[in-house]
Amino acid sequence: MSRVFSGVQPTGNIHIGNYLGALKQFVELQDENECVYCIVDLHSITVPQDPKQLKQHILDVAALYLAVGLDPEKSTVFVQSDVSAHAELAWILMCNAYTGELSRMTQFKQKSKNKESAPAGLFTYPILMAADILLYDTDIVPVGNDQKQHIELTRDIAIRVNNAYGETFVVPEGRFLKEGARVMSLDDPTSKMSKSSPNASSRISLLDSYNQVKKAIMRATTDSEGSIRFDRENKPGVSNLLTIYSAFSGISIEELEKQYDGMGYGALKKDLVEVVWTSLEPIQKRYNEIRHSQELVSVLRDGAERAGAIAEKTMARVKERFGLGL
Ligand code: AMP
Ligand code: TRP
Repeated sequence: MSRVFSGVQPTGNIHIGNYLGALKQFVELQDENECVYCIVDLHSITVPQDPKQLKQHILDVAALYLAVGLDPEKSTVFVQSDVSAHAELAWILMCNAYTGELSRMTQFKQKSKNKESAPAGLFTYPILMAADILLYDTDIVPVGNDQKQHIELTRDIAIRVNNAYGETFVVPEGRFLKEGARVMSLDDPTSKMSKSSPNASSRISLLDSYNQVKKAIMRATTDSEGSIRFDRENKPGVSNLLTIYSAFSGISIEELEKQYDGMGYGALKKDLVEVVWTSLEPIQKRYNEIRHSQELVSVLRDGAERAGAIAEKTMARVKERFGLGL
């Protein structure tokens, strides 16, 4: 059995990009692997958060994890800051990473763009992510395409430490989903769908109502050519709609191109609304059942205990290799 680890930030607005790029894979992996899924609250405070809201968002994401089908009997689900070893290992890894490689991270470059100075945590963010992954002797990390560079860095650090201190870490591999690995924004299909875009119609959140889903899809940017075919470069809007359609329905993009040959964008969009809603409706039903339940809290407590036990073993090994502690 392989160990799988991944994390999602508790920042609200979990959208279909998060679902198709990450959560859906989490569920698929849990039958054949030993899965550990984390709500990475420490990562979220790299930008200012309202404490009351953050608490709620942690529970929102946890409930969504279960609502999309994670089974706490099969998967360990927990909150990052409940296992203090994450921050501890991050420090040790920071001493084995270089400012040069961190400066090359595109996410950091984007988030610190046009700012004279940025929180140091934004800069060291990828190291905390490496700590998350390496702490659990992870073999596979299912994530969206946008995290490729962070996974590469994690591998580099693991190999570097292994070479310098002897076999310490398992070198993980990213698992990127081809279709739907990158869901683009509906209003600007050249940038990725994001939680933080001010325009709510640029994304479809997992908890959106039918009417919100409909509005976002019917308004989605396309082009004036009028033919339904996949061409990311010249037809980013239509290609994005096909990607979303394919990922939710399981029908291949080639098949969809045939199916919609000669038809207009309106027809495609109308059908897509139904395809997306068919998936979202049952997720929302389960979400509403779990969100305020005691069960949710016990799943997270139990998860932190299980995760903590694995992390403790890794930390003992790491400290031993580095000559730290008594
Ligand atoms: P984040 O929203 O940055 O916490 O991302 C949570 C997970 O969703 C990560 O695995 C991301 O790679 C993935 N993800 C975020 N945005 C997208 C997107 N637009 N398309 C596909 N995957 C995404
Ligand atoms: N950086 C990831 C994101 O923004 C979230 C994350 C934090 C993560 N730690 C992780 C993903 C460990 C996978 C494994 O999407």
